Amino acid sequence: MTRRGVIPLADASVAPPAKEIPHVSSLAERWLSIRNRLLANPRFQKFASSTPGIRTIARGKARAVFDLLSGFIYSQVLLACVRLDLFRVLEKEPLTLEAIAARANLPLDPARRLLDATVSLDLMCKLKDGRYGLGMNGAAILANPGIAAMVEHNAILYSDLADPVDFLRNPERETALSRYWAYAQSDDPSKLPDEAVRGYSALMSASQPLVASEILDAYPFQNHKRLLDVGGGEGRFLCSAGERYPNLELMMFDLPAVAARAEKNIAASGLAHRSQTFGGSFFTDELPKGADIVTLVRILHDHDDEKAAQLLTNIHRALPPGGHLLIAEPLAETRGAERMGDAYFAFYLMAMRSGRPRSLGTIENMLRRSGFSDVRAVPTRVPLQTSLIVAQR
Ligand SMILES: C[S@@+](CC[C@H](N)C(=O)[O-])C[C@H]1O[C@@H](n2cnc3c(N)ncnc32)[C@H](O)[C@@H]1O
Repeated sequence: MTRRGVIPLADASVAPPAKEIPHVSSLAERWLSIRNRLLANPRFQKFASSTPGIRTIARGKARAVFDLLSGFIYSQVLLACVRLDLFRVLEKEPLTLEAIAARANLPLDPARRLLDATVSLDLMCKLKDGRYGLGMNGAAILANPGIAAMVEHNAILYSDLADPVDFLRNPERETALSRYWAYAQSDDPSKLPDEAVRGYSALMSASQPLVASEILDAYPFQNHKRLLDVGGGEGRFLCSAGERYPNLELMMFDLPAVAARAEKNIAASGLAHRSQTFGGSFFTDELPKGADIVTLVRILHDHDDEKAAQLLTNIHRALPPGGHLLIAEPLAETRGAERMGDAYFAFYLMAMRSGRPRSLGTIENMLRRSGFSDVRAVPTRVPLQTSLIVAQR
């Protein structure tokens, strides 16, 4: 299956010849060259690592480089903990090596190596009597089941990235992640059956509580009458908004198979009397009218530019003049969280074969081109996880 807007394989695999541009190096470029020559010089490295003051910086840099090369091991240690359910095993009390090894069905020496690795990563801690307990990172992961679900889910991503150069050279190759997110490559996603949407819908539900509380704590909905959550998944955000705002009327739109799952959750939350669910494709079907605020939670980054623009235009048509659109997703170029947007999500979405993380500026331009105005960012507690952009029709 080919997608519109994707360069055919023959062109994509060969970069066009670079244009000859007469080179004038800027001051910044010259400084970069001097700095890099210095850093690469073994004598300078020796000097830096043995000179008090500079030594601290040199050691920090050495650690950062080491973390880059060993990140895969850290991730696999974490995956082992999740698969063996070790954080829950230690939730009540610290345990001895023997007790943990027995529960995890591991031989003693590999269990010790795993546990010592977890201590170095602050996933666990080691008490004076030799028992292992939860570390700060382990406790944080235990408190948020969405993280464990993502850790397990990432195994699919790692298999797609096993040969990163091959992955980059073949942007048309089918990936496990694109099969997982069935709508990403589907010509008619509204026909997807329940078994095709069940897996990703459950994953989204697991990580939704944290996202919902970020959004609801950052943006006040009390001045709105009716919310339409577009691509609302299993209805978790809609239910959280409904519980926080008892007078808010609720609507959500998603693929028919997903909307059917949401309907059950909404009914179970006791919110059916003020909720409506709609099934269809937000690219080809008209969105329901009547809401004065539309939310797009973790949606826009999933889609290539042309489709994302189509979606924004569709939302613009559904809103009344003065109506609001709230976009919530991790952004590219987020200060202090560049690795999340520009490394993790950029590669994640490339493996999904659809979409890209966008910066605030890029989304702002797209919104304006779709007819929105008064675009502004709303600060959130943890931009690493969710950034908010609000715009007006
Ligand atoms: C990444 S999930 C986010 C779900 C939810 N907003 C959340 O944050 O948990 C993307 C959602 O968009 C829905 N979706 C994808 N393509 C769609 C389409 N063409 N029409 C309607 N919904 C679509 C998916 O079914 C899925 O529920």
